[in-house]
Amino acid sequence: MDEFGEEDFYEPDIVSAQAMPAEARAEAGVRPAKLEELIGQARVREQLELLLSGAQQRSAAPDHILLSGPPGLGKTTLAMIVAAELGVSLRQTSGPAIERSGDLAAVLTSLGPGDVLFIDEIHRIARPAEELLYTAMEDFRVDVMVGKGPGATAIPLDLEPFTLVGATTRSGLLTGPLRDRFGFVGQLDFYDPPELESIVHRTARILSVDITDSGAREIAGRSRGTPRIANRLLRRVRDFAQVRADGHVTQEVASAALALYDVDDIGLDRLDRAVLTALIESFGGGPVGLTTLAVAVGEEPDTVEEVCEPYLVRSGLLARTPRGRVATVHGWRHLGRTPPRASAAGAVQAALFDEDETE
Ligand SMILES: Nc1ncnc2c1ncn2[C@@H]1O[C@H](COP(=O)(O)OP(=O)(O)O)[C@@H](O)[C@H]1O
Ligand SMILES: [Mg+2]
Repeated sequence: MDEFGEEDFYEPDIVSAQAMPAEARAEAGVRPAKLEELIGQARVREQLELLLSGAQQRSAAPDHILLSGPPGLGKTTLAMIVAAELGVSLRQTSGPAIERSGDLAAVLTSLGPGDVLFIDEIHRIARPAEELLYTAMEDFRVDVMVGKGPGATAIPLDLEPFTLVGATTRSGLLTGPLRDRFGFVGQLDFYDPPELESIVHRTARILSVDITDSGAREIAGRSRGTPRIANRLLRRVRDFAQVRADGHVTQEVASAALALYDVDDIGLDRLDRAVLTALIESFGGGPVGLTTLAVAVGEEPDTVEEVCEPYLVRSGLLARTPRGRVATVHGWRHLGRTPPRASAAGAVQAALFDEDETE
Protein backbone atom coordinates (compact mmCIF):
# COMPACT_ATOMS: atom_id res chain seq x y z
CA MET A 1 0.00 0.00 0.00
CA ASP A 2 1.22 3.49 -0.71
CA GLU A 3 -0.10 6.87 0.40
CA PHE A 4 -3.13 6.55 -1.85
CA GLY A 5 -4.12 3.22 -0.37
CA GLU A 6 -3.77 1.57 -3.75
CA GLU A 7 -3.89 -2.21 -3.71
CA ASP A 8 -0.91 -3.45 -5.59
CA PHE A 9 -2.02 -7.04 -5.94
CA TYR A 10 -4.73 -5.79 -8.28
CA GLU A 11 -2.17 -5.13 -10.96
CA PRO A 12 -1.47 -8.40 -12.73
CA ASP A 13 -0.58 -6.74 -15.98
CA ILE A 14 1.07 -3.48 -15.17
CA VAL A 15 1.49 -2.10 -18.63
CA SER A 16 -2.04 -2.47 -19.94
CA ALA A 17 -3.17 1.08 -20.69
CA GLN A 18 -6.62 0.67 -19.17
CA ALA A 19 -7.16 2.11 -15.72
CA MET A 20 -7.78 -0.45 -13.01
CA PRO A 21 -10.31 0.22 -10.24
CA ALA A 22 -7.67 0.41 -7.52
CA GLU A 23 -5.76 2.92 -9.59
CA ALA A 24 -8.35 5.68 -9.62
CA ARG A 25 -7.23 7.26 -6.36
CA ALA A 26 -3.57 7.09 -7.28
CA GLU A 27 -4.41 8.86 -10.53
CA ALA A 28 -6.49 11.55 -8.90
CA GLY A 29 -3.46 12.71 -6.96
CA VAL A 30 -1.25 13.27 -9.99
CA ARG A 31 -3.75 14.54 -12.55
CA PRO A 32 -2.84 17.95 -13.99
CA ALA A 33 -5.56 20.43 -12.96
CA LYS A 34 -4.95 23.25 -15.44
CA LEU A 35 -4.08 23.46 -19.12
CA GLU A 36 -0.70 24.98 -18.30
CA GLU A 37 0.21 21.98 -16.13
CA LEU A 38 -0.49 19.61 -19.00
CA ILE A 39 2.61 18.17 -20.63
CA GLY A 40 2.64 17.41 -24.37
CA GLN A 41 -0.39 17.39 -26.72
CA ALA A 42 0.68 20.91 -27.71
CA ARG A 43 -1.73 21.10 -30.61
CA VAL A 44 -4.87 20.00 -28.77
CA ARG A 45 -3.87 22.23 -25.86
CA GLU A 46 -3.57 25.29 -28.07
CA GLN A 47 -6.84 24.53 -29.84
CA LEU A 48 -8.63 24.11 -26.52
CA GLU A 49 -7.10 27.30 -25.13
CA LEU A 50 -8.56 29.26 -28.03
CA LEU A 51 -11.93 27.58 -27.79
CA LEU A 52 -12.22 28.23 -24.06
CA SER A 53 -10.92 31.82 -24.10
CA GLY A 54 -13.14 32.72 -27.05
CA ALA A 55 -16.22 31.43 -25.27
CA GLN A 56 -15.24 33.10 -22.01
CA GLN A 57 -14.84 36.45 -23.74
CA ARG A 58 -18.36 36.09 -25.12
CA SER A 59 -19.61 34.84 -21.73
CA ALA A 60 -21.08 31.81 -23.47
CA ALA A 61 -20.73 28.06 -22.97
CA PRO A 62 -18.09 26.76 -25.40
CA ASP A 63 -18.98 24.36 -28.20
CA HIS A 64 -19.27 20.68 -27.43
CA ILE A 65 -15.92 18.90 -27.37
CA LEU A 66 -15.08 15.37 -28.49
CA LEU A 67 -11.80 13.84 -27.31
CA SER A 68 -10.60 10.70 -28.99
CA GLY A 69 -7.58 8.47 -28.59
CA PRO A 70 -6.33 5.26 -26.97
CA PRO A 71 -6.70 4.69 -23.18
CA GLY A 72 -4.45 6.55 -20.75
CA LEU A 73 -3.55 9.55 -22.93
CA GLY A 74 -5.45 12.20 -20.95
CA LYS A 75 -9.09 12.34 -22.12
CA THR A 76 -10.61 12.33 -18.61
CA THR A 77 -7.90 14.71 -17.43
CA LEU A 78 -8.75 17.15 -20.23
CA ALA A 79 -12.48 16.98 -19.49
CA MET A 80 -11.75 17.91 -15.88
CA ILE A 81 -9.42 20.68 -17.02
CA VAL A 82 -12.12 22.15 -19.29
CA ALA A 83 -14.50 22.46 -16.32
CA ALA A 84 -11.73 23.84 -14.08
CA GLU A 85 -10.62 26.42 -16.64
CA LEU A 86 -14.21 27.56 -17.08
CA GLY A 87 -14.78 27.57 -13.33
CA VAL A 88 -17.95 25.48 -13.63
CA SER A 89 -19.05 22.14 -12.19
CA LEU A 90 -18.42 18.86 -13.92
CA ARG A 91 -20.98 16.07 -14.12
CA GLN A 92 -19.46 12.76 -15.08
CA THR A 93 -21.11 9.70 -16.59
CA SER A 94 -20.36 7.14 -19.28
CA GLY A 95 -22.01 5.67 -22.35
CA PRO A 96 -22.54 2.18 -20.87
CA ALA A 97 -24.07 3.73 -17.70
CA ILE A 98 -26.82 5.44 -19.68
CA GLU A 99 -29.17 2.58 -20.43
CA ARG A 100 -32.42 4.46 -20.87
CA SER A 101 -33.02 7.90 -22.30
CA GLY A 102 -34.74 8.81 -19.02
CA ASP A 103 -31.40 8.37 -17.20
CA LEU A 104 -29.83 10.89 -19.53
CA ALA A 105 -32.79 13.31 -19.32
CA ALA A 106 -32.41 13.30 -15.52
CA VAL A 107 -28.73 14.19 -15.76
CA LEU A 108 -29.31 16.87 -18.40
CA THR A 109 -32.11 18.63 -16.51
CA SER A 110 -29.98 18.76 -13.35
CA LEU A 111 -27.17 20.71 -15.04
CA GLY A 112 -26.58 24.31 -13.95
CA PRO A 113 -25.90 27.13 -16.42
CA GLY A 114 -22.59 26.60 -18.23
CA ASP A 115 -21.85 23.26 -16.54
CA VAL A 116 -19.72 20.64 -18.24
CA LEU A 117 -21.21 17.19 -18.78
CA PHE A 118 -18.54 14.56 -19.38
CA ILE A 119 -19.65 11.34 -21.09
CA ASP A 120 -16.85 8.79 -21.19
CA GLU A 121 -16.96 6.00 -23.81
CA ILE A 122 -19.65 7.96 -25.59
CA HIS A 123 -19.61 5.52 -28.53
CA ARG A 124 -21.29 2.96 -26.25
CA ILE A 125 -24.35 5.08 -25.51
CA ALA A 126 -27.73 3.41 -26.21
CA ARG A 127 -29.47 4.61 -29.35
CA PRO A 128 -32.60 6.21 -27.77
CA ALA A 129 -30.38 8.17 -25.37
CA GLU A 130 -28.21 9.24 -28.27
CA GLU A 131 -31.25 10.64 -30.06
CA LEU A 132 -32.22 12.59 -26.96
CA LEU A 133 -28.71 13.98 -26.91
CA TYR A 134 -29.13 15.46 -30.41
CA THR A 135 -31.72 18.08 -29.41
CA ALA A 136 -30.02 18.60 -26.06
CA MET A 137 -26.72 19.45 -27.78
CA GLU A 138 -28.27 21.51 -30.55
CA ASP A 139 -31.18 23.37 -28.94
CA PHE A 140 -30.59 22.81 -25.20
CA ARG A 141 -33.94 21.09 -25.02
CA VAL A 142 -35.15 17.56 -24.26
CA ASP A 143 -38.48 16.05 -25.16
CA VAL A 144 -39.60 13.91 -22.28
CA MET A 145 -42.18 11.28 -23.24
CA VAL A 146 -45.04 10.96 -20.80
CA GLY A 147 -47.37 7.96 -20.99
CA LYS A 148 -47.28 5.00 -23.35
CA GLY A 149 -48.91 3.97 -26.62
CA PRO A 150 -51.23 6.28 -28.60
CA GLY A 151 -51.82 8.54 -25.57
CA ALA A 152 -48.12 9.31 -25.11
CA THR A 153 -47.14 12.95 -25.36
CA ALA A 154 -43.78 14.65 -25.60
CA ILE A 155 -43.22 17.43 -23.10
CA PRO A 156 -40.40 19.74 -24.14
CA LEU A 157 -38.11 20.83 -21.30
CA ASP A 158 -35.63 23.65 -21.69
CA LEU A 159 -32.10 23.01 -20.47
CA GLU A 160 -29.48 25.43 -19.25
CA PRO A 161 -26.76 25.97 -21.85
CA PHE A 162 -24.03 23.41 -21.13
CA THR A 163 -20.92 22.01 -22.73
CA LEU A 164 -20.75 18.33 -23.50
CA VAL A 165 -17.32 16.75 -23.41
CA GLY A 166 -17.39 13.29 -24.95
CA ALA A 167 -14.48 10.85 -24.79
CA THR A 168 -14.01 7.85 -27.02
CA THR A 169 -11.35 5.30 -27.83
CA ARG A 170 -13.17 4.60 -31.09
CA SER A 171 -14.25 7.78 -32.87
CA GLY A 172 -14.95 5.65 -35.94
CA LEU A 173 -17.86 4.04 -34.10
CA LEU A 174 -19.64 7.34 -33.51
CA THR A 175 -22.67 7.91 -35.70
CA GLY A 176 -22.51 10.80 -38.16
CA PRO A 177 -25.27 12.86 -36.51
CA LEU A 178 -23.59 12.64 -33.09
CA ARG A 179 -20.15 13.44 -34.43
CA ASP A 180 -21.48 16.44 -36.38
CA ARG A 181 -22.83 18.03 -33.22
CA PHE A 182 -19.40 18.46 -31.71
CA GLY A 183 -17.88 21.84 -32.55
CA PHE A 184 -14.39 20.60 -31.80
CA VAL A 185 -12.73 17.19 -32.08
CA GLY A 186 -9.42 16.78 -30.27
CA GLN A 187 -7.43 13.77 -31.39
CA LEU A 188 -4.95 12.70 -28.69
CA ASP A 189 -1.84 10.95 -29.86
CA PHE A 190 0.83 8.87 -28.11
CA TYR A 191 3.46 10.94 -26.26
CA ASP A 192 7.11 11.29 -27.25
CA PRO A 193 9.77 9.94 -24.88
CA PRO A 194 10.90 13.46 -23.78
CA GLU A 195 7.29 14.37 -22.91
CA LEU A 196 6.90 11.16 -20.93
CA GLU A 197 10.17 11.90 -19.19
CA SER A 198 8.77 15.26 -18.04
CA ILE A 199 5.60 13.52 -16.89
CA VAL A 200 7.66 11.01 -14.87
CA HIS A 201 9.61 13.86 -13.26
CA ARG A 202 6.42 15.73 -12.47
CA THR A 203 4.76 12.68 -10.88
CA ALA A 204 7.97 11.86 -8.99
CA ARG A 205 7.94 15.37 -7.51
CA ILE A 206 4.32 14.96 -6.41
CA LEU A 207 5.01 11.53 -4.87
CA SER A 208 8.36 12.70 -3.38
CA VAL A 209 10.30 10.07 -5.29
CA ASP A 210 14.00 10.78 -5.70
CA ILE A 211 14.82 10.06 -9.35
CA THR A 212 17.69 10.81 -11.72
CA ASP A 213 17.24 12.03 -15.30
CA SER A 214 18.43 8.70 -16.67
CA GLY A 215 16.06 6.86 -14.32
CA ALA A 216 13.14 8.93 -15.64
CA ARG A 217 14.31 8.34 -19.21
CA GLU A 218 14.39 4.58 -18.66
CA ILE A 219 10.78 4.59 -17.41
CA ALA A 220 9.64 6.97 -20.17
CA GLY A 221 11.13 4.77 -22.88
CA ARG A 222 9.14 1.77 -21.68
CA SER A 223 5.80 3.51 -21.15
CA ARG A 224 4.20 2.67 -24.47
CA GLY A 225 3.74 6.36 -25.27
CA THR A 226 1.15 6.54 -22.47
CA PRO A 227 1.16 8.78 -19.34
CA ARG A 228 -1.00 6.35 -17.36
CA ILE A 229 1.59 3.62 -17.90
CA ALA A 230 4.49 5.99 -17.14
CA ASN A 231 2.92 6.86 -13.79
CA ARG A 232 2.18 3.23 -13.01
CA LEU A 233 5.70 2.07 -13.87
CA LEU A 234 7.08 4.85 -11.68
CA ARG A 235 5.07 3.55 -8.73
CA ARG A 236 6.41 0.03 -9.29
CA VAL A 237 9.97 1.26 -9.66
CA ARG A 238 9.55 3.27 -6.47
CA ASP A 239 8.58 0.09 -4.58
CA PHE A 240 11.62 -1.67 -5.94
CA ALA A 241 13.92 1.24 -5.09
CA GLN A 242 12.52 1.39 -1.57
CA VAL A 243 12.72 -2.31 -0.81
CA ARG A 244 15.76 -3.46 -2.74
CA ALA A 245 17.85 -0.28 -3.02
CA ASP A 246 18.23 2.95 -1.05
CA GLY A 247 15.01 4.54 -2.37
CA HIS A 248 16.92 6.47 -5.01
CA VAL A 249 15.73 5.76 -8.58
CA THR A 250 18.66 5.52 -10.97
CA GLN A 251 18.68 4.03 -14.43
CA GLU A 252 20.03 0.72 -13.07
CA VAL A 253 17.31 0.52 -10.45
CA ALA A 254 14.57 1.39 -12.99
CA SER A 255 15.88 -1.10 -15.48
CA ALA A 256 16.14 -3.92 -12.92
CA ALA A 257 12.64 -3.17 -11.60
CA LEU A 258 11.05 -3.12 -15.04
CA ALA A 259 12.75 -6.37 -16.02
CA LEU A 260 11.29 -7.91 -12.87
CA TYR A 261 7.83 -6.73 -13.90
CA ASP A 262 8.18 -8.23 -17.35
CA VAL A 263 8.05 -4.95 -19.26
CA ASP A 264 10.02 -5.36 -22.45
CA ASP A 265 12.53 -2.83 -23.73
CA ILE A 266 9.98 -0.99 -25.83
CA GLY A 267 7.27 -1.31 -23.18
CA LEU A 268 5.12 -4.01 -24.77
CA ASP A 269 2.90 -5.78 -22.28
CA ARG A 270 2.01 -9.43 -22.14
CA LEU A 271 -1.07 -9.04 -24.33
CA ASP A 272 0.78 -6.96 -26.94
CA ARG A 273 3.42 -9.65 -27.15
CA ALA A 274 0.83 -12.43 -27.19
CA VAL A 275 -0.89 -10.79 -30.17
CA LEU A 276 2.35 -10.40 -32.05
CA THR A 277 3.49 -13.92 -31.17
CA ALA A 278 0.18 -15.48 -32.26
CA LEU A 279 0.26 -13.50 -35.48
CA ILE A 280 3.73 -14.77 -36.28
CA GLU A 281 3.75 -18.27 -34.82
CA SER A 282 0.18 -19.38 -35.49
CA PHE A 283 -0.60 -17.45 -38.65
CA GLY A 284 2.78 -17.18 -40.34
CA GLY A 285 2.75 -13.41 -39.92
CA GLY A 286 -0.72 -12.95 -41.42
CA PRO A 287 -2.79 -11.61 -42.97
CA VAL A 288 -5.35 -12.78 -40.43
CA GLY A 289 -8.70 -11.32 -39.38
CA LEU A 290 -9.09 -9.44 -36.10
CA THR A 291 -11.58 -11.91 -34.62
CA THR A 292 -9.42 -14.93 -35.38
CA LEU A 293 -6.42 -13.21 -33.86
CA ALA A 294 -8.40 -12.21 -30.76
CA VAL A 295 -9.64 -15.78 -30.26
CA ALA A 296 -6.06 -17.03 -30.52
CA VAL A 297 -4.99 -14.87 -27.57
CA GLY A 298 -8.24 -15.39 -25.62
CA GLU A 299 -9.29 -11.74 -25.69
CA GLU A 300 -12.23 -9.69 -26.90
CA PRO A 301 -11.72 -8.31 -30.43
CA ASP A 302 -12.52 -4.84 -29.04
CA THR A 303 -9.69 -5.04 -26.53
CA VAL A 304 -7.20 -6.18 -29.14
CA GLU A 305 -8.33 -3.44 -31.48
CA GLU A 306 -8.63 -0.56 -29.00
CA VAL A 307 -5.90 -1.35 -26.50
CA CYS A 308 -3.14 -3.34 -28.23
CA GLU A 309 -3.20 -2.50 -31.87
CA PRO A 310 -2.85 1.29 -31.78
CA TYR A 311 0.56 1.01 -30.12
CA LEU A 312 1.70 -1.99 -32.17
CA VAL A 313 0.77 -0.08 -35.33
CA ARG A 314 2.37 3.10 -34.06
CA SER A 315 5.58 1.16 -33.28
CA GLY A 316 5.62 -0.28 -36.78
CA LEU A 317 5.31 -3.88 -35.55
CA LEU A 318 1.88 -4.65 -36.96
CA ALA A 319 -0.06 -3.34 -39.94
CA ARG A 320 -3.76 -3.32 -40.66
CA THR A 321 -4.39 -4.20 -44.28
CA PRO A 322 -7.63 -4.73 -46.18
CA ARG A 323 -6.91 -8.48 -45.99
CA GLY A 324 -6.27 -8.54 -42.26
CA ARG A 325 -3.54 -8.00 -39.68
CA VAL A 326 0.05 -8.49 -40.76
CA ALA A 327 3.30 -8.64 -38.78
CA THR A 328 5.87 -6.26 -40.22
CA VAL A 329 9.56 -7.00 -40.64
CA HIS A 330 10.11 -5.08 -37.38
CA GLY A 331 7.48 -7.24 -35.73
CA TRP A 332 9.33 -10.42 -36.66
CA ARG A 333 12.64 -8.99 -35.56
CA HIS A 334 11.26 -7.67 -32.28
CA LEU A 335 10.44 -11.27 -31.34
CA GLY A 336 13.91 -12.32 -32.42
CA ARG A 337 12.64 -14.10 -35.52
CA THR A 338 13.74 -13.90 -39.11
CA PRO A 339 11.04 -12.52 -41.39
CA PRO A 340 10.12 -14.90 -44.21
CA ARG A 341 11.42 -14.12 -47.65
CA ALA A 342 8.45 -14.85 -49.87
CA SER A 343 5.44 -15.48 -47.64
CA ALA A 344 2.06 -13.90 -48.17
CA ALA A 345 2.93 -11.58 -45.31
CA GLY A 346 6.12 -10.56 -47.03
CA ALA A 347 4.23 -9.81 -50.20
CA VAL A 348 1.66 -7.69 -48.39
CA GLN A 349 4.39 -5.86 -46.55
CA ALA A 350 6.27 -5.21 -49.73
CA ALA A 351 3.11 -3.73 -51.20
CA LEU A 352 2.46 -1.70 -48.07
CA PHE A 353 5.83 -0.33 -47.24
CA ASP A 354 7.77 -0.79 -50.41
CA GLU A 355 10.23 -2.75 -48.28
CA ASP A 356 12.85 -4.69 -50.11
CA GLU A 357 14.72 -6.06 -47.11
CA THR A 358 12.55 -9.07 -46.38
CA GLU A 359 15.39 -11.54 -45.97
N1 LIG B 1 -0.55 15.48 -20.56
C1 LIG B 1 -0.40 14.92 -19.37
N2 LIG B 1 0.50 15.38 -18.49
C2 LIG B 1 0.66 14.78 -17.30
N3 LIG B 1 -0.03 13.70 -16.88
C3 LIG B 1 -0.93 13.19 -17.72
C4 LIG B 1 -1.18 13.78 -18.98
N4 LIG B 1 -2.15 13.06 -19.61
C5 LIG B 1 -2.49 12.08 -18.76
N5 LIG B 1 -1.78 12.15 -17.62
C6 LIG B 1 -1.86 11.23 -16.49
O1 LIG B 1 -2.23 9.95 -16.98
C7 LIG B 1 -3.31 9.41 -16.23
C8 LIG B 1 -4.36 8.90 -17.22
O2 LIG B 1 -5.00 9.98 -17.86
P1 LIG B 1 -6.57 9.95 -18.19
O3 LIG B 1 -6.98 11.35 -18.44
O4 LIG B 1 -7.29 9.23 -17.10
O5 LIG B 1 -6.58 9.10 -19.53
P2 LIG B 1 -7.81 8.59 -20.42
O6 LIG B 1 -9.06 9.21 -19.86
O7 LIG B 1 -7.49 9.08 -21.80
O8 LIG B 1 -7.80 7.10 -20.34
C9 LIG B 1 -3.83 10.53 -15.32
O9 LIG B 1 -3.75 10.11 -13.99
C10 LIG B 1 -2.89 11.68 -15.50
O10 LIG B 1 -2.24 11.94 -14.30
MG1 LIG C 1 -10.64 8.15 -19.00
